[in-house]
Amino acid sequence: MKENIYGTKFDSEAVASGLHRSAIGGRWEELGEKQFYFVLQQGLLPTDAYYGFDINQTLLDAGYDVELKTVNLQEKLPRSHLLANSEFNMVPFQRNFTYALAFSLFTHLTVNSIRRCLIELSRVLDCGGKFYATVFLIQDSDAIEKSFRQSSEITSYADKDPYHYRLSDMECLANQTGFEVRLVSEFDHPRNQQMLEFVYK
Ligand SMILES: C[S@@+](CC[C@H](N)C(=O)[O-])C[C@H]1O[C@@H](n2cnc3c(N)ncnc32)[C@H](O)[C@@H]1O
Repeated sequence: MKENIYGTKFDSEAVASGLHRSAIGGRWEELGEKQFYFVLQQGLLPTDAYYGFDINQTLLDAGYDVELKTVNLQEKLPRSHLLANSEFNMVPFQRNFTYALAFSLFTHLTVNSIRRCLIELSRVLDCGGKFYATVFLIQDSDAIEKSFRQSSEITSYADKDPYHYRLSDMECLANQTGFEVRLVSEFDHPRNQQMLEFVYK
């Protein structure tokens, strides 16, 4: 079974018709703004250096060549700050990070991929560094194998994308990979994704 649909390549025609925007979840302005204000709340500044990572080079290209160009922001982000691979390998950035954010990533990943992501992140995150990731959660009392209605738009599943987890699953993964994790309670996502804060020990 394929983990998710993100192996799809987006050619220039697809990008011109905006398919890259819908493929990463739609609600472009609303969710973009939400992420922007969230990172500001965590203390990040517009003048800080930002890096981006994805499995799909064509999505990074659409982001750089189309989205950043349209808003005249290309000069703020060297192209070398965007990296694609399928192993979460961020070592090629050749630096450590204080903060990381994965918005709507773990909602598309299996437990093993989430664990791999945390292991790879631990190689590039400062001690005490914070990693924020959104997930779909269910309660311990909910049957893990049943589908779960997260919002009017989204049903989550144990074994297919979009995936749901228990907070205790995330605690277990954090323990295995050198992180502590907590639920950020004051986060309000329109599709009921929850925000987790992983702190690297
Ligand atoms: C729902 S989109 C969210 C994109 C962006 N974070 C946002 O909030 O707009 C999921 C993103 O995760 C990427 N992705 C999926 N599986 C991945 C993996 N194994 N490694 C790295 N990125 C992955 C996809 O290519 C896609 O860009």
